[in-house]
Amino acid sequence: MKQNIRVWDLPIRLFHWLLVLCIITSFVTVKIGGNAMELHAFSGYCILTLVIFRVCWGVIGSYHARFINFVPSPQRLLQYLVGKAPGGLGHNPLGALSVLALLTTVGVQAITGLFTSDDISFEGPFAKYVSSGTVEFLTSIHYFNEKILIAVIALHLCAIFYYQKFKGEDLIKPMLIGDKEIDPSDEANCLPTNLGRASKDGGFQRGYALLLLSLIAVLVAYFVKR
Ligand code: HEM
Ligand code: HEM
Repeated sequence: MKQNIRVWDLPIRLFHWLLVLCIITSFVTVKIGGNAMELHAFSGYCILTLVIFRVCWGVIGSYHARFINFVPSPQRLLQYLVGKAPGGLGHNPLGALSVLALLTTVGVQAITGLFTSDDISFEGPFAKYVSSGTVEFLTSIHYFNEKILIAVIALHLCAIFYYQKFKGEDLIKPMLIGDKEIDPSDEANCLPTNLGRASKDGGFQRGYALLLLSLIAVLVAYFVKR
């Protein structure tokens, strides 16, 4: 009999779709320029808050959100690549690498943004605390990392499309509704330790996540206040 397993808790799903919204906002506002740069900075602070939240949730969050339950050892990654190890219920070993790459590049973009200057009228809130050489260096990283970020996001979308089209695996629905439907015939593709292992997603977890997110948002707002 098919069973539905909660894989992505509400905090992870909200994190994901808010991140997508903020990234789009960041790219659109920088193209508009002028006063829209205030919104560019604001969406950057939101992204920073979300990434810090995700890193904390990767340590204290629900089962499938935790890094320890999805970041593969080199051996497991190799076995997965040669088809000798199952993917698992949450992120598969390759997906895990893409999650780390996305969080790192997005994090680098948000942090360097704090020191970036357009040399005319707008600069990040920390630019005034460092030398002009450092501002120039971090601004060039902010510009260069834009291309890496676009490449990593494009790879992310291609991977999702590949799994959908060629492996018949819909990864998007679980990221929207939280559950994965497991057929008895799919069980061989899951790690035995993952089977039946749902992520806790009750009121307590959600309240706890909201409290954590609020705390991080207040801290970020305090430090970037100009
Ligand atoms: C993850 C969050 C962010 C993303 C995705 C992002 C993206 C970008 C992009 C794509 C550019 C244009 C680079 C180019 O022209 O090639 C840019 C420029 C810039 N960003 Fe960000 N940014 C982020 C966060 C921030 C933050 C937090 C700040 C400051 C508070 C900031 C301040 C700036 C400034 C001052 C520029 C230069 C604009 C110019 O030269 O006209 N960014 N950003
Ligand atoms: C701005 C663009 C995007 C960024 C930065 C991004 C980032 C991420 C991150 C960080 C994760 C890991 C989730 C976690 O464990 O916390 C993830 C997973 C995922 N994303 Fe995105 N995402 C983007 C766009 C999209 C879009 C447009 C879609 C859908 C069409 C999508 C579908 C998914 C899915 C299905 C997963 C789960 C993959 C799996 O099962 O391993 N993403 N994304």
